Amino acid sequence: MDGPRRMRNLLNAGFLKRKGASETHPRGPRQARVVAVAAQKGGVGKTTTAVSLAAALASLHGQRVLIVDVDPQAHVHASLRAVSRPGSVTLSDVLLADQPRDLMDAVVPSGIEGLSLTPPDKALHEAEGRLAARVGREVILQAALDTARTWFDTIVLDCPPNLGTLTLNALLAADEVLVPCDMSLLALEGVADLLDTVHTVNTRLRHPLAVVGVVRTRVDGRNLKQNQAIEAALRDNFGDLLLSTSVPVNSALAQAQTEGRAIFDFSPRSKGAQAYARLADEWLSLSQAEAAS
Ligand SMILES: Nc1ncnc2c1ncn2[C@@H]1O[C@H](COP(=O)(O)OP(=O)(O)OP(=O)(O)O)[C@@H](O)[C@H]1O
Ligand SMILES: [Mg+2]
Repeated sequence: MDGPRRMRNLLNAGFLKRKGASETHPRGPRQARVVAVAAQKGGVGKTTTAVSLAAALASLHGQRVLIVDVDPQAHVHASLRAVSRPGSVTLSDVLLADQPRDLMDAVVPSGIEGLSLTPPDKALHEAEGRLAARVGREVILQAALDTARTWFDTIVLDCPPNLGTLTLNALLAADEVLVPCDMSLLALEGVADLLDTVHTVNTRLRHPLAVVGVVRTRVDGRNLKQNQAIEAALRDNFGDLLLSTSVPVNSALAQAQTEGRAIFDFSPRSKGAQAYARLADEWLSLSQAEAAS
């Protein structure tokens, strides 16, 4: 290859790298608590819990909150019907960038005061496969959250219903994990698998991820016997990890998600809103108790 052509190629390669590079974001004054909402089983209420907890912290406690949608299904975006500009930087842009990239590039407002989110990102499906070949693939989100931690009080990571690379990225980026469990045997088994993964994260990957607890979701008061059996199994197996808040089946929660509105806006007096307000209180009091100990 002749000299000028080689030079041109090198310059082009440099230009392409710069195109994928982050803007530089200043650091803020906050220190976020990062919580992953994760469960292996699908449909147990992870997204409802992530969005409602985040909305409670922003709307009822005046926090600055970011929800990172780590699930290719992009249900966070649908749940809040946020407006995102076409061509916005997405989480998969951040995860797949050649150079370390700042997640702040992918933060957009939700329309709710204090609450931000990442744009819908169906390409995350593909990202999971492409990440498989990368060295250090599990810690990309952890590094990308560095600046965001200084701009938010809480960062909530909504995980997909499996324990793949995306969930592992979330667990390694988080300080703690909150596990929703509906009152079914399959969900119960899923909690055990997730806690095994947390143990691996703690011991083999040496990341100090704490378990906030297991929150019972979609509790149908009519299934008394089943509820008692699952609750007894949860207590036997996970003891102290069972949170006192439980979330009842409440049609307002499903309707709010369909309408793309947070429950505190859609139906602030509903049983669902009350339950998630209690969950936010319990979660905040657990962190205060930990800080005092
Ligand atoms: N407490 C509840 N009462 C009634 N409906 C609920 C409740 N919690 C969640 N739902 C509804 O159940 C469905 C599944 O909930 P959600 O999307 O939160 O689950 P998920 O665990 O995030 O699912 P996935 O595994 O697909 O990500 C949704 O239609 C949601 O509106
Ligand atoms: Mg979900």
